[in-house]
Amino acid sequence: MTLKSKSWWRRRLLKLSALGATGMLFTRALSDEKLARLALTPDQTEGPFYPNNNQLDTDMDLTRVQGRQESAKGQVIEVNGRVTDQFGEPVSKAIIDVWQANSLGKYHHERDSRRVQIDENFQGWGTLFTDDAGEYYFKTIKPGAYPADGKWVRPPHIHFKVAKRGYRELTTQMYFSGEELNRKDLLLLELSEQEQKQLIVDFIRDQQTAILSGRFDIVLSKLSDT
Ligand SMILES: [Fe+2]
Repeated sequence: MTLKSKSWWRRRLLKLSALGATGMLFTRALSDEKLARLALTPDQTEGPFYPNNNQLDTDMDLTRVQGRQESAKGQVIEVNGRVTDQFGEPVSKAIIDVWQANSLGKYHHERDSRRVQIDENFQGWGTLFTDDAGEYYFKTIKPGAYPADGKWVRPPHIHFKVAKRGYRELTTQMYFSGEELNRKDLLLLELSEQEQKQLIVDFIRDQQTAILSGRFDIVLSKLSDT
């Protein structure tokens, strides 16, 4: 890990301890909270590995890289879900950036300099769009866990950034149920139990294809002046 990313995690740790930390509720602004019917998806940090490389292939299949014959290593998973606003209305044509580590917990990113193998057949990040019903889908591999700082190990997770004009931009992370590391993750522990449930997804294995499928619904805050 580079000095730069190390210092990012250190700053994060300092901030957490300054907050008094674990179990603390994450507060967020919601001007029209009284009207809200659905709980907004909780925000989480973008982290140090937001993609900064240009790549030709940015589609919804992260298990294949255009021009390469082999598939990414790891357990293939499919993630789908619906993006709505706090009133349950679908948000169509929202842009969703997804990015994640490979199956060994390594980001294809200059800030991740740990000596862990890069998987050149893994796309690393992609850009998705919701359809008219607010639905999205992508195919990828289950990311590996990776060390953050000291004894802190990040559980497998996928980063999401969801944007559409007229809605508050959301940056968050999706987790996998049943992972022991979820219980000790300092970023998950910033959230209430209910908020954690919103980000932790159950995956079901298809008996024929062995692909794991999970649904991650996302609730954005529609801005009141639109
Ligand atoms: Fe991450």
